[in-house]
Amino acid sequence: MEEQRDPNHPYICTIERVVDETPTVRTLYFHDEVLANVKPGQFAMIWIPGVNELPMSVMISEKKDEAGLTVRKRGESSTALYNLKIGDKIGVRGPYGNSFEITNGKILLIGGGTGLVPLMRLIKYSNPDWTTNQITVLMGSKTKEEVFFEDISNKMLTHSQNPQIIPVTEDGSYGEKGYVTDVLEKLLEENTYDAIYTCGPELMMHKVVKLANEKGIFVQASLERMMKCGVGICGSCCVNEDLVCRDGTVFDGQYLAKNTEFGHFERTKSGILEKI
Ligand SMILES: Cc1cc2nc3c(=O)[nH]c(=O)nc-3n(C[C@H](O)[C@H](O)[C@H](O)COP(=O)(O)OP(=O)(O)OC[C@H]3O[C@@H](n4cnc5c(N)ncnc54)[C@H](O)[C@@H]3O)c2cc1C
Ligand code: FES
Repeated sequence: MEEQRDPNHPYICTIERVVDETPTVRTLYFHDEVLANVKPGQFAMIWIPGVNELPMSVMISEKKDEAGLTVRKRGESSTALYNLKIGDKIGVRGPYGNSFEITNGKILLIGGGTGLVPLMRLIKYSNPDWTTNQITVLMGSKTKEEVFFEDISNKMLTHSQNPQIIPVTEDGSYGEKGYVTDVLEKLLEENTYDAIYTCGPELMMHKVVKLANEKGIFVQASLERMMKCGVGICGSCCVNEDLVCRDGTVFDGQYLAKNTEFGHFERTKSGILEKI
């Protein structure tokens, strides 16, 4: 591990491997020993030459010092990143932000789409003594063809006590039908958990936090907000008084319950507050 690397200095990396996860999501892998070892919940700023810079979570890899970016193509910038090929260059700076507080026991992870990326790292970094941990993963997507990371979750949880990986599709084409929060409600009727961790669309996380708080279960959410600088200068990522890039991305459920913007309002690229 490099000892003195400045996180604010951009480093140029070369894409070495590309894996198609679904028709709209792919993971680009590159070597960078710092990003390969970020904590679960931390993010990096990724410069796509000539296009833009985007905040991205960092996907785990089985290869030493290899980091991944699991990108869904949406607008111009993410599509440009998605379209990069082996041999193309990106600039990376970071890691930034805090991380999930890892607990042991009966753990529930709830991810929607690319929100699963920090949760895969959370599994990897959880207590390796799997005899004490029982992990359930709820993975939400719209359809069967948009389900990803099921195999890697299964592989990582082979030695966990009674692991459960539950895909949930909105159209019911695979796994449980509906939203992950519908399945969460059912699970909470019959089970209790020591901790719940979530990352994905904010409306989903808002409901997860509400349900967990009602049951008195420790819950943390990793927020994805509009970010430009990534280092607490521009203010574009604020939720009430907090900056997601500097004070998050991970916030506790008790704090989020009091936040008047979380789950209700987001900021546009020009900073205007809009209803979600
Ligand atoms: C901490 C953090 C980590 C992130 N990690 C990832 C990641 O691992 N993988 C990944 O693909 N993206 C991730 N994102 C989102 C990413 O940074 C971009 O916001 C997203 O890729 C869209 O950028 P764009 O400029 O292409 O789209 P835009 O031109 O900004 O938007 C295009 C369309 O996509 C919608 N959109 C924009 N952002 C999101 C979003 N986050 N969720 C759902 N819809 C959205 C817009 O409403 C619009 O309809 C992360 C964001 C943050 C803050
Ligand atoms: S992205 Fe600029 S303050 Fe958070």
